Amino acid sequence: MTEGQTKKALLRSLAGKTLPRPPIWLMRQAGRYLPEYRAVREQAGGFLNLCYDPVLASEVTLQPVRRFGFDAAILFADILLIPQALGQKLWFETGEGPRLEILNNFNELKDVSEIHEILSPVYETVKLVKSNLDDSTALIGFAGAPWTVATYMIAGRGTTDKAPARELLNNDPTRFFHLLDKLTQATVLYLSEQIKAGADAVKIFDSWAGSLAGNDFQRACIDPCVKIVADLKAMHPDIPIIGFPRGSSAEAENYLAQTRVDGIAIGEETDPIWARDHLQTKAAVQGNLDPKLLLTGGEKMKRAAMSIIEILGDGPHIFNLGHGITPDVDPRHVEELVRIVKG
Ligand code: CP3
Repeated sequence: MTEGQTKKALLRSLAGKTLPRPPIWLMRQAGRYLPEYRAVREQAGGFLNLCYDPVLASEVTLQPVRRFGFDAAILFADILLIPQALGQKLWFETGEGPRLEILNNFNELKDVSEIHEILSPVYETVKLVKSNLDDSTALIGFAGAPWTVATYMIAGRGTTDKAPARELLNNDPTRFFHLLDKLTQATVLYLSEQIKAGADAVKIFDSWAGSLAGNDFQRACIDPCVKIVADLKAMHPDIPIIGFPRGSSAEAENYLAQTRVDGIAIGEETDPIWARDHLQTKAAVQGNLDPKLLLTGGEKMKRAAMSIIEILGDGPHIFNLGHGITPDVDPRHVEELVRIVKG
C-alpha cells in the first residue's frame, strides 16, 4: 500500500499530506503519569527489566493508545539500550536518572554486529505491538542520535551542559569520532531490525543537539544523521523518518536540508510560525505544545494547542509536545488535549 492509500494518518502526514486535523501522539505517552504503567513496571521489577520483556513492554506501549485513542504508538524502550548492548553497564538510580559505567577506552566496546544479542527482545516487542494495533494506528520505532547517546556514554550520566562530551570532541576528535561512527553503525542496524519487525516509521531523538553549534553541530549532529537516514532509506526505501534535533532552532533548517528526513520534530522553544515558513515547506512538522501546560490543562492549554494547530494547519502537521510528558501530569489533562486536537 502506498502512503497515499494508507489509513494511518501519521503516515499520510509524513508523506506530505495536509489533513483535516493533525494526527496526535505524545512523547513519553507511556510512563509514570499512568497508574497502569506503574503497575506493570512494578510487575517487571524495574524500568530496564520492562524494556527487555516483550509481553510487558508491548502492554505499556499499547496502554496510552487504548486509553486516549492516539494515532500512533511509540515502542517502549530507551535510547540507552544501545550502549548497554555494546557492553557498557547501565543502571537507573531512583529519582536521579541513568548511570553508565565510565569507560577508559571505547575499544572495550563490543563489535556492532553483536548488539542484536541484547536487543532482540525489543524487536519482539515491535512484532507484538504491531499485531495488536488496528490499521489506522501507526507504530513508531526509535533510537537516540549518536551525539545524544554519546553525551551519556562519555559522562556516565546526564549533564546540564554536555561539557564532558564537548571536551572530548574538541580535545580528542579521533577518539570521539571513533565512538560516534560506532554508534552511527549500531543505530542503523538497530533501526533496520525494528523496521523489519514492523515499525511503520522511525524517529531519531537528538535531544541534546542544542548543545552544539556551527561546525560541531555539522560534524556531531548532522553528519551522523545524514548517514543513518541514507543507509536506512537504501535498505527500506519507503520508511518515513522523523528527526528531532531538539533545541537547535537556527540549525534545524540545515539539518533538514541535509538529512532529508520526512518529518522534523520541534521543541517548545521553536516558534511554530518560523517552523511553518522554514521547515514545513520541506517536511512534515511535529510538535510543539509546552509539556508544562499539561500540568494545569484548561483554557490556557486549549488556547496554546489551538494556536499551534492554526499556524501549522495549512501543511503537513503531527500534533505532539515539545518534549516528553512528565510523571506529575494528570491523565485527565491528556484526555482533554486529545479531545481538543481531534475536535
Ligand atoms: O516516548 C516514549 O514514550 C517512548 C519511550 C522512550 C523512553 N525514553 C522511555 C523512558 C523514549 C523515546 C525515550 C527517549 C530517551 N531516553 C531520551 C530522549 C528523549 C528525551 O526525553 O529527551 C533520553 C535522553 C533518554 C534517557 C533517559 N531514560 C533518561 C534521562 C531517563 C530518566 C528520566 C526519567 O523520566 O526518569 C530515562 C528513563 C525513561 N525512559 C523512563 C521512560 C518511560 C522513565 C523510567 C521509569 O522510571 O519508569
